[in-house]
Amino acid sequence: MANLVRASLLFDLRLSESGIWTEIRALTPCQMGTQIIIKGPDLTYPRLSYIETECAQYQTRLTVHGVFVIYLIIFFVDFRHQAIMSKILVVFGATGNQGGSVINAVLADPALKDQYRIRAITRNASKPAAVALREKGVEVVEADVANGESIRKAMENAHTVFAMTETIHDEELVTRDLAHGKGLVDAAVAANVSFYIYSTLPSIKHYSGGKYLHGDHFDVKSKVEDYIKKQNIKSAFVSPGSFMSIFLESMGPAPLGNGTYAIMNVVIPQTELPLLDTLGDIGKFVALMLADPKKYEGKVIPAATKLYSMQQIAQIMGEVSGKEIRYIQQPPEVMRKFIPANAADRVIDMMLYFQDFGYYGPNTAKVLEESQELAPKNLTTFEEFLLKNKWTLS
Ligand SMILES: NC(=O)c1ccc[n+]([C@@H]2O[C@H](COP(=O)([O-])OP(=O)(O)OC[C@H]3O[C@@H](n4cnc5c(N)ncnc54)[C@H](OP(=O)(O)O)[C@@H]3O)[C@@H](O)[C@H]2O)c1
Repeated sequence: MANLVRASLLFDLRLSESGIWTEIRALTPCQMGTQIIIKGPDLTYPRLSYIETECAQYQTRLTVHGVFVIYLIIFFVDFRHQAIMSKILVVFGATGNQGGSVINAVLADPALKDQYRIRAITRNASKPAAVALREKGVEVVEADVANGESIRKAMENAHTVFAMTETIHDEELVTRDLAHGKGLVDAAVAANVSFYIYSTLPSIKHYSGGKYLHGDHFDVKSKVEDYIKKQNIKSAFVSPGSFMSIFLESMGPAPLGNGTYAIMNVVIPQTELPLLDTLGDIGKFVALMLADPKKYEGKVIPAATKLYSMQQIAQIMGEVSGKEIRYIQQPPEVMRKFIPANAADRVIDMMLYFQDFGYYGPNTAKVLEESQELAPKNLTTFEEFLLKNKWTLS
């Protein structure tokens, strides 16, 4: 094992013959499957100065002599063990929007693809979305978040976990989501996972000062976030905005019967939503965290392209479809008829909270602005999302 460590380390050094290095990457199995960053001030070739690693075991001085001797070993061990050496990234929700986006983002980034080996989690490995993942070369493992033993097994030898939980609008929503959210991080702690990324949401109850008490589908994610922060595990949080896809579904334009359409909701037209192309973009946020966990550790990053008012959303959909689409504010008792009964209180309180306090609380615009530095730059606009999805109104 020691030879393998040095071989990997020095193999990278050998590639750096041409100049002065301030930072190099090397694979070392201080902990199997861990890729670490090695920093060395003025690391010049042929004589190497002190190398500081995150793995104290291998803090050492290396000489050219060592390079040549150990370089020979690399041919025998490093390439054969490349797969074992890369860090295992366990992705929950892999067959859905969020997890699927994380997987796409990692596979699209050569550096991340090299660093991480994805383990996609699904309850049913034979479903088409799981088969499609396997066809992309991704390991697919069956586990159910409701089954503690299965998630503990799924996290064996994992380095990083991306965790999300599904929202099912019924009476058990809060107890179930809390149990799943806590169970996932408990399993990660037990498996000695190095970095844990959780898809959270802001607490409606907290930011509304207790005015809106039915937004428990948001509140519960925030509770799980608080719980994770108290555990002995390095963590970071991505807080998705409103999915753009909801305007292709439940919140989309309805025909008014005269060739025109309306988006209807309980809020005033100026109410702003931070929109996110979830499948396209949430993975880009997570990719940044995977590339530099230290930078994001402990942070909650809002994931959205930008704020759009309900009026703007109707206008953009009108322009893309070539139809007249208005935004119409409706009283809650009218809107209730269009929302499934088990979700109506939650959805109405959530929308009114967005109107009165903002999605991420009273400083939503500022929160989004301040997070720009930590956010990806190539995010999908709502217009691009509609065009990409070939959205039309017939
Ligand atoms: N709609 C919005 O505007 C919005 C905004 C912010 C946040 N959110 C949140 O986003 C979440 C939904 O994310 P999404 O759209 O990515 O989900 P999704 O596309 O509906 O996919 C759900 C994923 O969860 C997995 N899953 C469900 N139950 C599971 C279980 N018991 N064990 C293991 N895996 C399980 C499913 O895997 P298998 O079926 O393959 O097992 C699937 O991959 C919800 O929590 C929602 O609150 C939504």
